[in-house]
Amino acid sequence: MHHFQYRDNRMFCEDVPVLEIAEKVGTPFYLYSHATLRHHFLTFQKAFEGVPHLICFSAKSNSNLAVLRLFGSLGGGLDIVSGGELFRGLQAGIPPDRIVYSGVGKREDEIEYALRSGIMMFNIESLQELELINQCGARLKKEAPIALRVNPDVDPKTHPYISTGLKKEKFGLGMESAAEVYKSASSFPFVKVIGISCHIGSQVTEVTPFVDALNRVKELIAALETFGISISYLDIGGGLGITYDQESPPHPDEYGRAISQALGDSAFTLILEPGRVIVGNAGVLVTRVLYTKEGEGKVFVIVDAAMNDLIRPSLYNAFHAIEPVVRDHKETVRADVVGPICESADFLAKDRHIPHVEAGSLLTVMSAGAYGFTMSSNYNSRPRVPEVMVKEDQFYVVRARESYEDLIKGESIPPFL
Ligand code: LLP
Repeated sequence: MHHFQYRDNRMFCEDVPVLEIAEKVGTPFYLYSHATLRHHFLTFQKAFEGVPHLICFSAKSNSNLAVLRLFGSLGGGLDIVSGGELFRGLQAGIPPDRIVYSGVGKREDEIEYALRSGIMMFNIESLQELELINQCGARLKKEAPIALRVNPDVDPKTHPYISTGLKKEKFGLGMESAAEVYKSASSFPFVKVIGISCHIGSQVTEVTPFVDALNRVKELIAALETFGISISYLDIGGGLGITYDQESPPHPDEYGRAISQALGDSAFTLILEPGRVIVGNAGVLVTRVLYTKEGEGKVFVIVDAAMNDLIRPSLYNAFHAIEPVVRDHKETVRADVVGPICESADFLAKDRHIPHVEAGSLLTVMSAGAYGFTMSSNYNSRPRVPEVMVKEDQFYVVRARESYEDLIKGESIPPFL
């Protein structure tokens, strides 16, 4: 469900015509629907109604301050993986005791920043990281609340680049070593064991891998209890997929039911780290056609958005539907929708039947709310595009378009040149 719908063949975001925003803001731009963001968050929350839980939205999927503020105001916390994401979360007003910090490579300064800020929990991914956190805790005279991130070795059946829960991946601790590291953790004076965490991958479209992972984690928790280590927080990560094309992922209700059932009557507080399922279909990228040209048996539609704005098609061969902002029901054409960047991998769609377009036509790249803007870059010295949020019949620029001056901010030419 989302609020990008046609009225009289013109695409609206909630009650605002996309055309009107494009005229005022220019193209390209990311566009988010407040009602969709809110609806997705509340739907996810409702799916876990019967279980004590905290939804720590995964900042990496969309870290705009306005988006984070919205989820914070609905009772959400944040899943972060860097000092930068912590800064954003705090700026957005997320209470630090609702922030969990994952990631295989936390730097010492980042750990100290998080400890000083009083975050809820560090999800530790190695023994060396645990030792460093203990040292930081000693220096700051502050106990660090931790969980160990374990790798349950289940196959999430997703794209290999976004699969994390298999033994061969860099993430988490193997189930065998985790028990040993837990024992060490409980002997460290500035570390307080409070939880366990896992995350098996992203864009997962079945519930079984989540349940399998949860069952494996529960076995480990039972083993830990025999050593006198008890766990209060069970963090099962994120990863629930969305429909980009033909996928039919479980509804959050189904996911919630399966997880709650697998949890049984255990007394943990569940932590969830959804990203894509909340924001993915709540955002689009709006772009304008610059030129069209005939290729061999297909048309090249050259648009003003590129792989630096949305890298998912180039990086994962990901599918994003392309829809016209104004529908005129002319014939469709087989086209590659490409950007201005000097790379053959710079495409938004390949060999796709899209409506006939001309120079000046506006297109929306759908389902771009997750891992869209957050993965964008300045490649080819292209200023990053604005982010716009619509609420009912108003729109708000929640991040301004970068300027050329922004591109060289912080650069300097040494005096010898
Ligand atoms: N928690 C942890 C520890 C994670 O590593 C991730 C995503 C999430 C939560 C959120 O996962 P989600 O619910 O969004 O699936 N750039 C890729 C996705 C990379 C996901 C990385 N980790 C893409 O564009 O598909």
